[in-house]
Amino acid sequence: MEQTILGKTNRTVSAVGLGTWQLGADWGNVSESDALAVLAASEDAGVTFLDTADVYGDGRSEQAIGAFLRSRGDGHGITVATKMGRRMEQVPENYVMENFRAWTDRSRKNLGTDTLDLVQLHCPPSATVTSGEVYDALDTLVAEGAIAAYGLSVETCGQALAAIARPNVATVQIILNAFRLKPLDEVLPAAREAGVGIIARVPLASGLLSGKYTAATTFAGDDHRNYNRDGSHFDVGETFSGVDYSVGLEAAGRFADLAAGLDFTATTAQAALAWVAQLDGVSTVIPGARSAEQAVANAAAGSLPDLGGAFTASVRGIYDEFLRADIHPRW
Ligand SMILES: NC(=O)c1ccc[n+]([C@@H]2O[C@H](COP(=O)([O-])OP(=O)(O)OC[C@H]3O[C@@H](n4cnc5c(N)ncnc54)[C@H](OP(=O)(O)O)[C@@H]3O)[C@@H](O)[C@H]2O)c1
Repeated sequence: MEQTILGKTNRTVSAVGLGTWQLGADWGNVSESDALAVLAASEDAGVTFLDTADVYGDGRSEQAIGAFLRSRGDGHGITVATKMGRRMEQVPENYVMENFRAWTDRSRKNLGTDTLDLVQLHCPPSATVTSGEVYDALDTLVAEGAIAAYGLSVETCGQALAAIARPNVATVQIILNAFRLKPLDEVLPAAREAGVGIIARVPLASGLLSGKYTAATTFAGDDHRNYNRDGSHFDVGETFSGVDYSVGLEAAGRFADLAAGLDFTATTAQAALAWVAQLDGVSTVIPGARSAEQAVANAAAGSLPDLGGAFTASVRGIYDEFLRADIHPRW
């Protein structure tokens, strides 16, 4: 597994991490034993970075991680990034010290740790991203030892650039995959320049980039891919990366052909993950996994050979043909 430095946290983490939204909710039922199996399989496969949030299963994802880390004892070497800010309405007046303390205290309890490794504001409004008082409060939490570092998970490239410009922001999490190329224009260069780590989320476009779905595919009733395709429940752009499903199927088919043409063996999902992980400026990529098998396959993408410039040119070609006009101006 390739290793990277996670921005200003100065921690070494695996190039492929694990997203743990699936271990909480919104993806159909994932049992507690399945959640622990996903975490164990990931660690065995070399994953040392876990992304969670206080709202995933209203704390269940954090609690599963806490239980898992306790079972591993001290010195497990895993970095956990959690998120805060979505347990209340996302309005600027809620991003204040009193709430930050309450939210981080709850996450510390769930995760069973005195100091959280990394806390990310969970897609806050733009006015919060540019508020000096917010960063002062976060700096205070670091000084008090409640958190070791902080970052932001953002929706737009403009928000990412505003966060990167702040001196103590360690990481920025943003959607980045073969269907969402806009961060390549300005965000990755700015992050490299500032030493801010980029955490690439939704790297498989909610699974579309595995190439396994068809027009006939169905999802469980409580899976967000049923009810949030248009962003009606949470952000536009999270489910299937905001890509129209039928357009996404066509583009995913072209991406699968590209992956099949590699001169080494990789599944379509592994090629999609490796392509993001290998971008200069990306610290770690956090695919969600619903089973140990998916977790192991995804981790293996972190040690694939260089996909090469021609692959990237073809990814850009697919993006330009199917997606750019609709996706690029939106964020
Ligand atoms: N606002 C935010 O900050 C925010 C928002 C969204 C996500 N995130 C974070 O980013 C993480 C990743 O995003 P995501 O989970 O939404 O989407 P994703 O990683 O793009 O897609 C995950 C889905 O891809 C499929 N998959 C995974 N591994 C596979 C494999 N090896 N082969 C075939 N299919 C595979 C699974 O679909 P099936 O279930 O169909 O098998 C899985 O549920 C989340 O877990 C979360 O930690 C953060």
